[in-house]
Amino acid sequence: MYTEISKILKGGMEGKRVSIRGWVFRQRTSGNLNFLIIRDPTARIQVAVKKDKVSGTAWKDASEAYIESSVTITGEVKEDERAPGGWELQAADFSTVTRGEPFPISKDLSEEFLLDVRHLWLRSRKLSSIFKARHHLVNYLREYLDKEGFYEIAPPIITKAECEGGSTLFEMDYFGDSAYLSQSGQLYGEAMIYGLGKVYCFAPSFRAEKSRTIRHLAEYWHLEPEMAWYSQEDNMRLQENMVTYAVSKFVENHEDILEELERDPEKLTCVKAPFPRLDYAEAVDKINALGGKLEYGDDFGAPDEALLTKEYDLPIFVHNFPSKIKAFYMREDPNKPGTVLAADMLAPEGHGEMIGGSERIYDHAELEAKMKAFGLNPEQMQWYVELRKYGSVPHSGFGMGIERFVKWTLGLHHIRDTIPFPRTITRCYP
Ligand code: 4AD
Ligand code: MG
Repeated sequence: MYTEISKILKGGMEGKRVSIRGWVFRQRTSGNLNFLIIRDPTARIQVAVKKDKVSGTAWKDASEAYIESSVTITGEVKEDERAPGGWELQAADFSTVTRGEPFPISKDLSEEFLLDVRHLWLRSRKLSSIFKARHHLVNYLREYLDKEGFYEIAPPIITKAECEGGSTLFEMDYFGDSAYLSQSGQLYGEAMIYGLGKVYCFAPSFRAEKSRTIRHLAEYWHLEPEMAWYSQEDNMRLQENMVTYAVSKFVENHEDILEELERDPEKLTCVKAPFPRLDYAEAVDKINALGGKLEYGDDFGAPDEALLTKEYDLPIFVHNFPSKIKAFYMREDPNKPGTVLAADMLAPEGHGEMIGGSERIYDHAELEAKMKAFGLNPEQMQWYVELRKYGSVPHSGFGMGIERFVKWTLGLHHIRDTIPFPRTITRCYP
């Protein structure tokens, strides 16, 4: 029976004999005494190995262990205020499972090198904490949608549909024909609202983003709810409530992770719906007043969103973008012609867009006309257009890039640290 290290650190085990298993985090020898810090997925603890208290093999194993050698240890729990965490294990036995080779990662290595050895770097405290956080955040988002009565659906990843514009499509050979890796599950979600009402998919999306930025990946995880009968107003309410729920649950239950990542919890405890809303035109004026150079009709670049969102503590919605700069399926706002019933949710502190959502065109003729105006051939997406022929209803939905959400929540500089094996224009390894 092995005890998790975090359980020992909770206290109440003074004098008890326990066994732990894990990896060597640090090792220091002085004469007849070996001090090691051992880590497991739950925590780290100091282990003291005294030459005269253990067997010859145990002493040899402890003395020769490398950083990241895997080990099992049996010993007595002692309170020791000099030890990190306040507890020490005084070894009675120490056994190396795999000694391996000297670990290639030490301090002060370049980012590029660390990305090359990502498969090993994933064991670091920082990345382990981030991936624990990501797991919890995704769970809270799902939990919210479940409570709201959503069904999770499985969209195809190989598709012929171009959802978000041809320039970022990854094309592939499909048995001698051509197909794409999905940019979004939305169009398929739209087909499923007729049977299920409220649905979401959570799947990878692919974008052949040709630039190197701190917020673009070529492969990212996309959470995409789609709801029958929802107006754009209902859609935005759902988004802000979902974000509020996930963020509040996270701060409430995972203070330890925030501390480990040096993320100020106050940046998250203030996140409560409703979020501020800005019309696109207002946002353009504001960005220009802050030093940007936009004209009405321009799409926002990352620097524009950074300027705008540095002003806010809460995520904000920017709504009513000009139709021309948004996707073909978005419904025109009857009250503001030339603009669409769409909004992006931008994360504060300069992080920028993390959700894109809209009301969808549900009229058959309107969709055909708009596709043509956008240079798309309705016949190539006949199945999608046809949905408007049989009991079409108003509906809305949105897509959240999980890595963007994690990046903001944890206050991370670069999106690559929010996904274990980042795919970017310059990297597809490891
Ligand atoms: O704004 P986008 O392109 O919208 C759609 O794909 C819609 N079909 C979604 C929907 O309504 N169901 O992408 C949605 C979100 C963005 O707000 C951003 O968070 C994320 O996906 N995203 C990316 N994340 C990381 N790397 C990239 N290259 C991303 N491109 C989009
Ligand atoms: Mg977008």
